Amino acid sequence: MDNDPLWYKDAVIYELHVKAFFDSSSDGIGDFAGLIQKLDYLQDLGINCIWLLPFYPSPLKDDGYDISDFRGILPDYGTMKDFRRFVREAHRRNIRVLIELVMNHTSDQHPWFQDARASKKSRKRKFYVWTDDPKKKYQDARVIFLDAEKSNWAYDPESKQYYWHRFYSLQPDLNYDNPIVCRTMLNILSFWLNTGVDGFRLDAVPYLFERDGTRCENLPETHAYLKSLRQRLDKRYKNRILLAEANQRSEDVRPYFGDGDECHLAFHFPLMPRIFMALRQENNKPIIQIMEQTPGIPPDCQWALFLRNHDELTLEMVSPEEREYMYQEYAEHPKAKLNLGIRHRLAPLLNNGRRQLELLHSILFSLPGSPVIYYGDEMGMGDNVYLGDRNGVRTPMQWTGDRNAGFSAADAAQLYAPVIVDPVYGYQSVNAEAQSRTPTSFLNWMKRFIRARKKFKAFGRGTLKFLEPKNNKILAYIRQYEGETLLIVNNLSRFVQPLELDLAGHRGWTLVEVVGGVRFPAVGELPYFLTLGPHAFYWFVLEKPAAPEQKKMPVKTPEKSEAKGNPGRGSKTGKAQASRNSGVGENTE
Ligand code: BGC
Repeated sequence: MDNDPLWYKDAVIYELHVKAFFDSSSDGIGDFAGLIQKLDYLQDLGINCIWLLPFYPSPLKDDGYDISDFRGILPDYGTMKDFRRFVREAHRRNIRVLIELVMNHTSDQHPWFQDARASKKSRKRKFYVWTDDPKKKYQDARVIFLDAEKSNWAYDPESKQYYWHRFYSLQPDLNYDNPIVCRTMLNILSFWLNTGVDGFRLDAVPYLFERDGTRCENLPETHAYLKSLRQRLDKRYKNRILLAEANQRSEDVRPYFGDGDECHLAFHFPLMPRIFMALRQENNKPIIQIMEQTPGIPPDCQWALFLRNHDELTLEMVSPEEREYMYQEYAEHPKAKLNLGIRHRLAPLLNNGRRQLELLHSILFSLPGSPVIYYGDEMGMGDNVYLGDRNGVRTPMQWTGDRNAGFSAADAAQLYAPVIVDPVYGYQSVNAEAQSRTPTSFLNWMKRFIRARKKFKAFGRGTLKFLEPKNNKILAYIRQYEGETLLIVNNLSRFVQPLELDLAGHRGWTLVEVVGGVRFPAVGELPYFLTLGPHAFYWFVLEKPAAPEQKKMPVKTPEKSEAKGNPGRGSKTGKAQASRNSGVGENTE
């Protein structure tokens, strides 16, 4: 494994659930031993970081975010030994591992809560937040799981008081005003760091503290505590990271980076829905606006960008009008809405449109940040809205066209969730084996595309400058880092588009398409003219003209063209020209 402390800046993260990936024990539930068997698949895909969803002992009322033991492994998934072996095996393949730190709450089945409710005198009572009068305390805090909960207070008949919870009532919030809770969580952090994991996604991190007269989100006390977590990390461990899950406006997320002394990464929640809006509106404005409103972050920090994840596509961070628009455009199925969001996977959101899938990955992979791919989305898996809650986007991974999608040898009835069987997204037609065999499949395209991205540090580390051509259906920008200058041009429209780019600052430079290595005419006196097919995009390296006294290197033509299809739609698939200067044009297989 490389020793770069800024490794997360170049990470391509893959989010997965152990239960959903591969079942090695034929009990219908995925496990660590199964996941280890599939690490070669992930290495071949090209990702270099896995984010694991919760795998701790839990009654699974909130898919494992309701933890009943912070230091264990749910027996269905394996043992601590299996977990350690998984971390070692991932590292052996240069894949880092992020796990969940669910600090905000426990399960109501956690022994702490059981003690707390059994006796008001228990030391554990103060681990949680209690009141006699729920109408008087913390009234300005919103309810998050709107479809399931009416209040953030729930009555405990055993101890005859109300306890505080921001999510399901079976997830009582921990009380961070209690120094023992603060210390215990720091020790839990160390416990997992000692297993060798590379970092944590900090679940639901804005809600740790409560104060009357506030929304009980993003409080200064929360930031102070996170800084103490970071200090523990930096003092005792090397190259480990914190990733904040703060579903907030970008100006409210900004403080989670502190002065580079809090979290290393934070999800860019406001950008995500705007990518979908820009696509449907065929207009670059939603993306440009949100990126321009995004405050700068300290140099060693990074955004985590995503299109979909294990939750509903959240619309909490858009205006009511924008939310209505998103529902109209993307939540056609009457069961698709959940809380303030839409419970669909990526492919169904895009009506399985291959060009749109590729275009959205072009945007995801080329805006500033580290991209996160949700398992199964690399092959366009579908969902099942009838499964309730968010379970429809958490179905078994589709490996083959065999029984249970090759996920498990158990009887179908024993699976933790049914596999997808509909005629469009069913495992008989969408599975990793079939797509691996088909050079033009989305999975193979993703592999090549991930490799293309990883060639350039500018994507993870570079500056961003929007070009804003007159044609606002085009989203174009320049990414620059040290010697690398990249030009990205995305067509948000379903029709062919002409465009002119002002590249005056790069007169004389040559555009070299990243995947095929095809050289385009140099930038001249006039605006640079391009045409793009429907939902097409180009990624170019901008190549500086050689200094006059230097002799130009002869341009070498590779012997074989990239035979297996070209991720850059609209670029030529013929013989690729390699450029020695830029290092592009290699076969990306
Ligand atoms: C997770 C959800 C979970 C909630 C409560 C969220 O941030 O992504 O899946 O239900 O936290 O733990």
